[in-house]
Amino acid sequence: MKLYIETLGCAMNTRDSEHMISELQKKEGYELTSDAKDADLILINTCSVREKPERKLFSEIGQFAKIKKAGAKIGVCGCTASHMGEQIIKRAPSVDFVLGARNVSKITEVLHKPKAVEVSIDYDDSTYVFDVAKNTGIKALLNISIGCDKKCAYCIVPHTRGKEISIPLDLLLKEANKLVASGVKEIMLLGQNVNNYGARFSVPHEKIDFAGLLRELEKIEGLHRIRFTSPHPLHMDDAFLEEFARNKKVCKSIHIPLQSGSTQILRAMRRGYTKEWYLNRIKKLRSLVPDVGISTDIIVGFPTESDADFQDTMDVLEAVRFDTMYSFVYSPRPHTESASWGQEKEVEKEVASKRLAILQNRHKEILKEDAKKELGKTYTILVENNKQSPVEVFSEGRSDNGRLIKIQGEFLDIGSFVEVEVVATDGGSLIGKSKAVKA
Ligand code: SAH
Ligand code: SF4
Ligand code: F3S
Repeated sequence: MKLYIETLGCAMNTRDSEHMISELQKKEGYELTSDAKDADLILINTCSVREKPERKLFSEIGQFAKIKKAGAKIGVCGCTASHMGEQIIKRAPSVDFVLGARNVSKITEVLHKPKAVEVSIDYDDSTYVFDVAKNTGIKALLNISIGCDKKCAYCIVPHTRGKEISIPLDLLLKEANKLVASGVKEIMLLGQNVNNYGARFSVPHEKIDFAGLLRELEKIEGLHRIRFTSPHPLHMDDAFLEEFARNKKVCKSIHIPLQSGSTQILRAMRRGYTKEWYLNRIKKLRSLVPDVGISTDIIVGFPTESDADFQDTMDVLEAVRFDTMYSFVYSPRPHTESASWGQEKEVEKEVASKRLAILQNRHKEILKEDAKKELGKTYTILVENNKQSPVEVFSEGRSDNGRLIKIQGEFLDIGSFVEVEVVATDGGSLIGKSKAVKA
């Protein structure tokens, strides 16, 4: 039996796909295929955070229905499955089952129930033990919580993934140890608000917070690097930042989603922090870890955003000079608060697109300017990618603080730690030369 799976959206969906793959491999004997025509089961793991990918879903289902083998099943999973539920089967009768983002552990169940729809966002699989997917590699994702308790006015995620529940510490430690035993060197902890870890468990549990979890994970022998995404700026108290700085295994790069630089817009978004708080946290962080890598998410054109509000976002960009920036035009989503505010509050599409272009162009310039400052610096990278062909030879990896460095003309082992000097830049990208292999 062959499985074809398409995964859209964020790292959580990637992890959910890994879970479904391992369940299907272990319990149903499926093997992965990269050819949908060849598959007995086609899964689409959907994202609904913005409108565009959601719109594409139905044309995609149509394509798969046309090319699939006779008797092959189509399942729609993930966030769009959660909030559209049985409407998906009504609109696209070729779909055999719908499985919500909060119901991943039921994959082998729905497979055998014709037209099953399992999308409850109250379902709790925070203590379900998934198998480790085969071929995990040197980097692995690990969910530390499910759902999200925040009520950001623009965001559909709480409506697709339900309330926030932390995964018990003993399960996390077992899973992390299993991953390390299978050759993993770097673990990425996942949650919508990772630094709110421990706020609620669904089983009796000792008191623990995110800093405590990081301390426990640090003790695992053979684990070299810990990363996490996303922390919430609201929960970035001094204790968290100090543990981030102190912990030897925690990589010194961090995603700090800004969303907007305007205090007024942040209030309308219900983010719970101000421009000043955000900048204060960055200042504190940089005083503790001067070379820290910082990435962010920004939304432009949120309802009522004025030119002055947008200028606040540009101010924060100038002050922080993010190493990576994911930026989007606001997209109204069903079930969210801001979608009901009416047209008069909306920012015109052209204005929003123009703001996005200004933001992205300035960020590109910043990356170019900052890349030059990296020349001559030495970093230890974990080699994550390499290629050797008659046309090109290169290796690539990330430094602890998140810098992606490409080493041309050298074929280095994936999983090795290599000391690299930055010798050139290409736009905002860094080119390095190896100095020594460390492990
Ligand atoms: N929990 C994370 C975000 C998860 S959603 C956090 O709080 O940062 C990923 C990103 O998608 C968000 O950071 C936001 O920038 C973007 N996003 C979410 N809803 C959106 C919407 N309605 N329109 C445009 N972008 C949106
Ligand atoms: Fe969405 Fe806000 Fe939760 Fe992030 S914190 S997932 S943006 S509601
Ligand atoms: Fe992730 Fe998209 Fe769902 S960003 S949480 S897969 S809506």
